[in-house]
Amino acid sequence: MGKKVLIISSSPIKTGNSALLCEEFARGAKEVGCEVELVHLSDYTIHFCTGCEICVQQGHGCVQNDDMKLLIEKMHQADVFVLATPIYFMSVSAQLKVFIDRFIAGEVYMRKHGEGKTAYLITVSASPDVKENHLAANASFRGFLTCLQSVKEGGILNAGGAYAPGSIRDQDWMRQAYEMGKGVNHE
Ligand SMILES: Cc1cc2nc3c(=O)[nH]c(=O)nc-3n(C[C@H](O)[C@H](O)[C@H](O)COP(=O)(O)O)c2cc1C
Repeated sequence: MGKKVLIISSSPIKTGNSALLCEEFARGAKEVGCEVELVHLSDYTIHFCTGCEICVQQGHGCVQNDDMKLLIEKMHQADVFVLATPIYFMSVSAQLKVFIDRFIAGEVYMRKHGEGKTAYLITVSASPDVKENHLAANASFRGFLTCLQSVKEGGILNAGGAYAPGSIRDQDWMRQAYEMGKGVNHE
């Protein structure tokens, strides 16, 4: 059976540049037999983490009854997950950061059962500078994985030079995202 791949697209623009790269990643992963689900965070209601830590202390999940419960479950079920974000002020989107913060309610399970799981990051900036611009996003992703402890980093695609929604379509980043998706079975 193929791997279960969950792609989390955090851009509010569902036809934007990072979403297009997600679709290419998905196309590649499907081609090598994976079962792929692409979700757009903008379709879900996710409130800020309140920092109460009741989820950590009592272990029954978050007290907030929003869509994060469903997304945590999807993350737990996935063999591979991909986080995708536009670069906003040289960092991740607020949407992705809220998702990561709320994942505190799923963190303990992931530490115990994350062995064998792999994670990828896709970022897109308007600036062609894919070094400085993407540093904080990469660090945020890696910090997330460090906290999850057992999930392995599969790869990072830092794409630059795409400003208008959809302008990434003619760029080589699309091929790179597709190849990355095709590579998930080699992890
Ligand atoms: C709030 C905001 C902040 C942004 N900050 C940056 C930035 O720091 N560096 C950059 O190169 N582009 C920045 N951009 C441009 C986006 O990263 C770029 O347009 C990207 O392709 C959007 O991806 P999307 O279509 O997936 O949403 C910013 C855009 C917005 C709306």
